[in-house]
Amino acid sequence: MIKREKIQRLLETTEFDKEVTVMGWVRTFRNNQFIALNDGSCMGNIQIVVDFNNTDENLLKRITTGAAISVTGTIVESLGKGQRVDIKAATIKILGDSDPEKFPLQPKKHSLEFLREIAHLRFRTNTFNAVFKVRHALAFAIHQFYNERGFVYMHTPIITASDAEGAGEMFKVTTLDFDNVPRTPEGKVDYSEDFFARSSNLTVSGQLEGELAAMAFGQIYTFGPTFRAENSNTTRHLAEFWMIEPEVAFADLEDNMQLAEDMLKYVIHYALENCIDELEFLNGRLLEEEKSKPQIERSELSLLDKLNFCLNNDFERLTYTKAIAILKSSKPNQKKQFKYIIDEWGADLQSEHERFLVEKHFKKPVILTDYPADIKSFYMRQNEPDAQGRNTVAAMDILFPGIGEIIGGSQREERLDRLTNRMEQLDIPQDELWWYLDTRKFGSAPHAGFGLGFERLVLFVTGMTNIRDVIAFPRFPKNAEF
Ligand code: 4AD
Ligand code: MG
Repeated sequence: MIKREKIQRLLETTEFDKEVTVMGWVRTFRNNQFIALNDGSCMGNIQIVVDFNNTDENLLKRITTGAAISVTGTIVESLGKGQRVDIKAATIKILGDSDPEKFPLQPKKHSLEFLREIAHLRFRTNTFNAVFKVRHALAFAIHQFYNERGFVYMHTPIITASDAEGAGEMFKVTTLDFDNVPRTPEGKVDYSEDFFARSSNLTVSGQLEGELAAMAFGQIYTFGPTFRAENSNTTRHLAEFWMIEPEVAFADLEDNMQLAEDMLKYVIHYALENCIDELEFLNGRLLEEEKSKPQIERSELSLLDKLNFCLNNDFERLTYTKAIAILKSSKPNQKKQFKYIIDEWGADLQSEHERFLVEKHFKKPVILTDYPADIKSFYMRQNEPDAQGRNTVAAMDILFPGIGEIIGGSQREERLDRLTNRMEQLDIPQDELWWYLDTRKFGSAPHAGFGLGFERLVLFVTGMTNIRDVIAFPRFPKNAEF
């Protein structure tokens, strides 16, 4: 094909009166004369000026919203308002027609709900162009952050036989014939006949395998898809999401918190440095969206202010026990405005409580530590019982404004006897995790790690409000379209 110029570069050019070729998709075509063309290289369109008197009428008719075209012409300084450059078209070729009667993306404002139903086309809007550019930049920044610090990127398995979180929220992987399931003499499904000769599932977390690698490389991270069959129909949950899980040997909870805070600040800074056009656009989009909300529901800071605020302030660190005390005496708790009233130590925090702490009480990101052992996973390091004899673990959750939990992590239980005791209490089969327990037998060492939900990070940085709008093709209960 002829070499095409990217529209992003042409919009900034100062070299005029040269012949160029651009290819892209028509956003609008006004007065048979002005095409707004977008090729995805940036949100901006380039204006193509068509000499309609000397252009075949049939060709003009085929220049419709959504059509893919190739234009060769001269790049000139624009005479019109609103743009610096135009291309005076010499030849226009239709690469792919788009029937204007049927093309669902009209040049007008569509709701995000509608765009979700046409997720295969929504990349062609400015909003989704910006969201996915930011998503790309954040992914790149994460790799750069860990690479600079000498972490090894591990690809942990997607199919596994274990439940890393012990929460039983797995999707089964099987090739058994459902119409003719093999049974054991006891009448149970006979997985020995299955593909892997055992029951297997999609991973909920790469952590356990990550720990194995950290016990050799010292510091590793994973960045891959994870799957949860939890029936959560919320704006924060997906059945398939991407997670970043660093794991560091010879590190405690303190080191873990520092790594997490450094990483979040690094990637947010990277986005501000590299995606300012997109973030300014999203900032404006959010301001517009907030106008339709009642005053009390509007955020106090704009998106850009919020990102900068996050960079320039230390995260608030406090224990679960202190957080419970704050929540218990809080107004919404006293006035029973919370859906789940906090009346006892040991209660699991709901997102309403997390958001109260972050958005109303501290007004900044918060790291909660040392949760009750009973509401956390088996692998977390056991603290000594507190003055009241209550058992906590060296866990940490990072809570963000508008998001709630963005990171969950802990120091790991490296003492074999403590770990196996806990597994026994929770009925977690030790024979299946023999390889995990081996690290505690052969050169065990203090270590810590966490998981960052990538889509929750993208939500925060883009200011979008529904997690289904920051992953290309969201998976959630009763939906696996596209
Ligand atoms: O808190 P979680 O369940 O922790 C783990 O999986 C640990 N193995 C991590 C570790 O220590 N290596 O999940 C970690 C993060 C959450 O804080 C949240 O941001 C995100 O993953 N997350 C989800 N994101 C979208 N949809 C869901 N259903 C999510 N569940 C968790
Ligand atoms: Mg968690």
